[in-house]
Amino acid sequence: MNDIKIDWNSMAKAYEEFNNAEDSYSFNIEWPCIKELLPDLKGKTVLDLGCGTGIFTFLLENCNPDKLLGIDLSEEMLQIAKEKAEKSNSDAEFILHDAATCGEVVEEPVDFIFSSTTSHYIKDLGQLFENVSKSLKAGGECIFSIIHPVYSAMYPIEHADGSYPEDEEWNVRYLDKSMRAYIQPWLEYNDEYENHLSKSYHHTFADYMNAIIGAGLSIEKVCEPMPPEEWKESQPYRYEGFVESPVYMIIKMRKNK
Ligand SMILES: C[S@@+](CC[C@H](N)C(=O)[O-])C[C@H]1O[C@@H](n2cnc3c(N)ncnc32)[C@H](O)[C@@H]1O
Repeated sequence: MNDIKIDWNSMAKAYEEFNNAEDSYSFNIEWPCIKELLPDLKGKTVLDLGCGTGIFTFLLENCNPDKLLGIDLSEEMLQIAKEKAEKSNSDAEFILHDAATCGEVVEEPVDFIFSSTTSHYIKDLGQLFENVSKSLKAGGECIFSIIHPVYSAMYPIEHADGSYPEDEEWNVRYLDKSMRAYIQPWLEYNDEYENHLSKSYHHTFADYMNAIIGAGLSIEKVCEPMPPEEWKESQPYRYEGFVESPVYMIIKMRKNK
């Protein structure tokens, strides 16, 4: 089993608790920006790549698509998504597969592809966006919320001996393409996980642009969402930290032919 799948299987419960909270970044920073960019999904076919526990899948379902499919690499993340779907009578379907080769399981090209904070777990961005393009109808649209390259550039470089990164290793190494290994900030204060190392890749802005252009997708808009204005007062530490090193870049794309 690959390291990233093992990581996500073991972090699933903690991820859901942290990110499904009312004051999460997902609900307060990503979603307001994504909502502004969303096309009309009523009656459309939709794919959520790296859907995890379905946080965004279920938000997309509120837009009344005809068919909604979530794809993820982790059985444990999908298990939580499926339990939530059953409880809420959701029609969303979920399958276990690598998003980078989603073209293998998407039978009919879809109208809209969404993905949040998954692409930095995928080594080959060219392969990912080729598969996105293949799985999208001509004229179809696509929104990727990616970990901002400035932020993933701060993830500490993997230590050869598997030891844990120190705080001072969280600094920008933008052009360094080495594998990253770090303690997820949202796991740091969870007593059930002691020094749990999580692995990912770091892709630069140019890596994303070239993979997208190479797959024949055109870019419609790129956004760098701010935290809510009220956090300046209510959560100044979080607000300032986010302004200093933004976590998200949201890219809207279209397949022209
Ligand atoms: C940060 S979570 C995001 C989950 C969800 N999109 C959300 O925003 O709540 C990253 C997800 O990507 C999944 N993932 C990592 N590599 C993947 C791959 N190659 N194919 C599909 N899913 C992958 C993980 O299992 C995990 O569920």
